[in-house]
Amino acid sequence: ETVFLNGEFVKRKHAKVDIEDRGYQFGDGIYEVIRVYGGDVFTMNEHMERLYQSAEKMKLKIPFDLQELTSIVFKLIEANEVNEGIVYMQVSRGISPRQHHFPGEDVSGSVIAYTKEIPRPLKEMQEGVTATLVEDIRWLRCDIKSLNLLGNILAKEEASSKGHFEAIQHRGETVTEGSSSNAFIVKDGTVFTHPATNLILNGITRRVIKDMADKNGVPFVEQIFTVDELLSADEIFIASTTSEVMPVIKVNDVTIGQGMPGPVTTKLQEWFTASIK
Ligand code: PDD
Repeated sequence: ETVFLNGEFVKRKHAKVDIEDRGYQFGDGIYEVIRVYGGDVFTMNEHMERLYQSAEKMKLKIPFDLQELTSIVFKLIEANEVNEGIVYMQVSRGISPRQHHFPGEDVSGSVIAYTKEIPRPLKEMQEGVTATLVEDIRWLRCDIKSLNLLGNILAKEEASSKGHFEAIQHRGETVTEGSSSNAFIVKDGTVFTHPATNLILNGITRRVIKDMADKNGVPFVEQIFTVDELLSADEIFIASTTSEVMPVIKVNDVTIGQGMPGPVTTKLQEWFTASIK
């Protein structure tokens, strides 16, 4: 297995990270998870652009330009013969003696990337999954795809330990997003999702879904909705690079709609599948 570490392609077992890498010590970095379908990268540019946007928001300089990063991704996919999987890429603020403030200009960011085979979650997408509600205790810059995922991890663990696929987070009455996905409801044929503010990550899958809805005449509204509106929705689904369009058929003990994937969700899944072929 070949991975990319700071300018070099090396075997995974030779890829070692310094104990004072700021990503390791502080979570001071950013990342992207990009999908590979049939050996082709899906929405590569969107992910790359978001990586540079995240970097800019936290004043991090990525030591490679977009073309170089793109070619790294292609080389890894080829070297590892990835068919259906992901590319994980992260950039930290580099290695320097532990101190909270930024290191000097001479310290360059650490870039790592690797690939992994992951099948599409076809069974879950067909049957639907369950979710639990978790108070969103994260910070106020959830728009940055930061390595700091403690809030997300605690939320996911709470869901997972209770047998749920996802934690749908809420700030008070307002539903924000999943622990590793965006959240959507369908009411009377209209899709609602939290607007792309500082309180959520503007998912690439979310944008693909918006485009598909717009193209096919499904009303798509970026507007906040409440926990009560979630629980009384006709349909709920979550979306991410790895979960695609994932129906949520139950939230805690509350059955959503008919307790199976609803018609709008199913249509979106069909359009999504068509778009990756
Ligand atoms: N998670 N919101 C959060 C908090 C996320 O972590 C993710 C993705 C999304 C959806 O974004 P996208 O559609 O671009 O994947 C929304 C990735 C997959 C992860 O951390 O593994």
